Amino acid sequence: MPLLIKNGEIVTADARYNADIYVEDETITRIGNNLEAPPTAEVIDATGKLVFPGFIDPHVHIYLPFMATFAKDTHETASIAALIGGTTTYIEMCCPSRHDDALEGYHLWKSKAEGHSACDYTFHMSVTKFGDKTTDQLKAIVRDGITSFKVFLAYKDFFGVDDGELYQTLVLARQLGVIVTAHCENAELIGRLQDDLLAQGKRGPEWHEPSRPESVEAEGTNRFATFLENTGATGYVVHLSCEPALDAAIRAKRRGVKLSVESVIPHFLLDKTYAERPGVEGMKHVMSPPLRDKRNQGVLWDALNIGLIDTVGTDHCPFDTDQKLLGKDAFTQIPNGIPGIEDRVNLLYTFGVKRGNLDIHRFVDAASTTPAKLFGLFPRKGTIAVGSDADLVVYDPAYQGVVSVKTQHVNNDYSGFEGMPIDGRPVCVTVRGKVQVKDGEFVGERGRGRLLKRDPA
Ligand code: URP
Ligand code: ZN
Ligand code: ZN
Repeated sequence: MPLLIKNGEIVTADARYNADIYVEDETITRIGNNLEAPPTAEVIDATGKLVFPGFIDPHVHIYLPFMATFAKDTHETASIAALIGGTTTYIEMCCPSRHDDALEGYHLWKSKAEGHSACDYTFHMSVTKFGDKTTDQLKAIVRDGITSFKVFLAYKDFFGVDDGELYQTLVLARQLGVIVTAHCENAELIGRLQDDLLAQGKRGPEWHEPSRPESVEAEGTNRFATFLENTGATGYVVHLSCEPALDAAIRAKRRGVKLSVESVIPHFLLDKTYAERPGVEGMKHVMSPPLRDKRNQGVLWDALNIGLIDTVGTDHCPFDTDQKLLGKDAFTQIPNGIPGIEDRVNLLYTFGVKRGNLDIHRFVDAASTTPAKLFGLFPRKGTIAVGSDADLVVYDPAYQGVVSVKTQHVNNDYSGFEGMPIDGRPVCVTVRGKVQVKDGEFVGERGRGRLLKRDPA
């Protein structure tokens, strides 16, 4: 059925204007004033609303065996939560461990998502070891349309690669025209610091941050950039959390290293005092890199606003209270991760755009357009233009609400952002022209989401 969105104010990364949008066969076919539609068309009145391109979360975990358990969401719950929050495409980390076969892992991750996601998706393929079969396997995965890799410089002996494997991955990625995303922390130092703290009887969640201090992330970021510089590969730092790591990334950008930077919503809004709360309340806020000293938040907002931080994702990774309690005797056993897929857009709009920390076009750029460009989805996704997929978010900037576990759709028994105000929310969200969210509720088709195949650069 054709769709007409009337009277909205379209806001993209570089334009803002009033116009109607007409959609046929999943695609935007006309943008203009006073557009007419046949009687068969579905009509959405967007008077007083903003119309954004569907938002893209470039960093989520849904199926994730990790730290002796599994992240809580399914692709159905995560994608419905994503859509209610305005995210129409997510990029999931496909994360077989270094003890698994990479190609088998890729097929497993694909099978978990296929037919279950209500919005579109693709994967970053993790390279967690580099052995005899790796080159051929990764080439096959790239041929299947997955044109971004992921490496972990942390999580030794599980996801982590050593410097030799990092080098081999980057050389191959450059040959294949693939961008490499990286978790940048020094694994060796983390292990030593964890052992020292535990030996001193320091076992609670408040010791997670001191076990992976800012300097450890800065070292990882600088090392990743140095490897990019010397291989000519293109890279992307995920979930950058603090000023020293940002400085390392900016220095690399200035000397011409092909490097982009992602930060994630928890690091803009939550600080390390959340993880210092006693008991399980602290554990709920354990993620890596850890929540930092509050002084970093202003630095991150400024860098985002002027484009030194390129994108904002979530690192969505829900573990419930019982799972967090796996770490009740030692912070090293607390499953790392905080959910966020449902709240990213509203929190970024509220604390960024509404509070004057973020230009509205940079908001769209960082949460939609730049992820689309960096990961081979533009202009299919990430903008509102004739020929683009009709992934549209009709946004009510007058809405006022509060983030709460009581109303969330993520499959978890708490929210990391409990009680935070939101000054705006999507009222209608479409995926390739089909209304999936109406009046803030999921009304759509489960399993509608498609795996997005991408071309190498
Ligand atoms: O704490 C986090 N970030 N958990 C998920 C795994 C990762 O490092 O991205
Ligand atoms: Zn990570
Ligand atoms: Zn992650």
